[in-house]
Amino acid sequence: MNSNPPQADPANQFAPDDLYGFPHYMLKEIHEQPQAVQTCLARYFPKSSAAVTPPILTNLNEVHILACGTSYHAGLIAQYWIEQLVGLPVRIRSGSEFQAAPLPMTANTLTVGITQSGETADTLNAIALDKQRRLAQAAAFQPRLLGITNQSASSLSKLVDSTLPTLAGAEIGVAATKTFVNQLIVCFYLTLELALGCQAILPEKIQAYWTELSRLPAKIRAVLALETQIKNIAQELVNQQHCIVLGRGVNRAIALEGALKLKETTYLHAEGYSAGEFMHGPIALLDAHVPVIAIAPTDSTHTAMVANLRQVKSHDSPMIGILTDDAPPETAALFDHALMLPAIAHPLFPILSVIPLQLLAYHIAVQRGLNVDKPRNITKTLSE
Ligand code: M6R
Repeated sequence: MNSNPPQADPANQFAPDDLYGFPHYMLKEIHEQPQAVQTCLARYFPKSSAAVTPPILTNLNEVHILACGTSYHAGLIAQYWIEQLVGLPVRIRSGSEFQAAPLPMTANTLTVGITQSGETADTLNAIALDKQRRLAQAAAFQPRLLGITNQSASSLSKLVDSTLPTLAGAEIGVAATKTFVNQLIVCFYLTLELALGCQAILPEKIQAYWTELSRLPAKIRAVLALETQIKNIAQELVNQQHCIVLGRGVNRAIALEGALKLKETTYLHAEGYSAGEFMHGPIALLDAHVPVIAIAPTDSTHTAMVANLRQVKSHDSPMIGILTDDAPPETAALFDHALMLPAIAHPLFPILSVIPLQLLAYHIAVQRGLNVDKPRNITKTLSE
């Protein structure tokens, strides 16, 4: 981590009020993702790096993550990355639950607050509560607070010791899209910093991740090129009442995020599940009127996922697959529609797999005639 003070978001990165010919901000912001990711990569993964791990990240026993909504889903992915790649225990709690059920006050703990706006009251209150209770404790329990936000000059930044800006530029659509993807880039940066700090990953492996990251903008463009296929799928789903999104491992959080995007923009009843857990009861929901979207990359979860999907298929649900282009033909054949995404080192697939779900939510909402940039009942920031 660069120990210089955080840079302000570059004000002129994108002209926020200009639609640049897009019909809605949500679609514009989805299409800005290659550039937003590029900007974030340039800041956090410069070509030459002499970064020294700052004291806040050293000698840690645990990481705690506090966030809400889409930012909570970014936190779930950070939890997977830090636990699986670094080996550090991570606990995550929704900011809205922290007061009722605070995390245990463990020693040598980094508390990470993730919030796009930096103003979400539930998240800020949780961090403030954690800070307050730790200040009264012995040295090992003192707060070490890190914020991840798209608003460097926000209330979050005043509360924490250090801020990592996500540099996505202004996001006007209420549904978080590019800010989520950039949260993931920053969370992966944090993961690699923690790994370096405790020598949990071989330098060659880190180098391989850097190479994969540098290819992300091009791979995101390849996913955006699937939009016509996704628009056609949206046409088939536009009159459905329900939808299930399944994922496994690191993609479980994308199943939750995809379902949230569908709910908040289309008002469809969508639920995200771990594919394994879905077998333990919720599978009873399925019939020919409940489409299932499955995130099924060709990784270590593939065999178990395919076994689950064979069961799903036997209940006549329309099936849509978010696969990688190295998928076996028999996997692709399970689906009514298979979206083939570029293959990538498997921990990084969420950065790609969320994009078809954003586009699908957008196109269903538009085909339903809804106000996709300002969905009913919600605001961009819940600051009270
Ligand atoms: O600004 P924050 O990231 O703290 O906001 C948290 C949630 O309110 C937010 O992610 C919400 O779920 C969005 N509408 C998601 O698109």
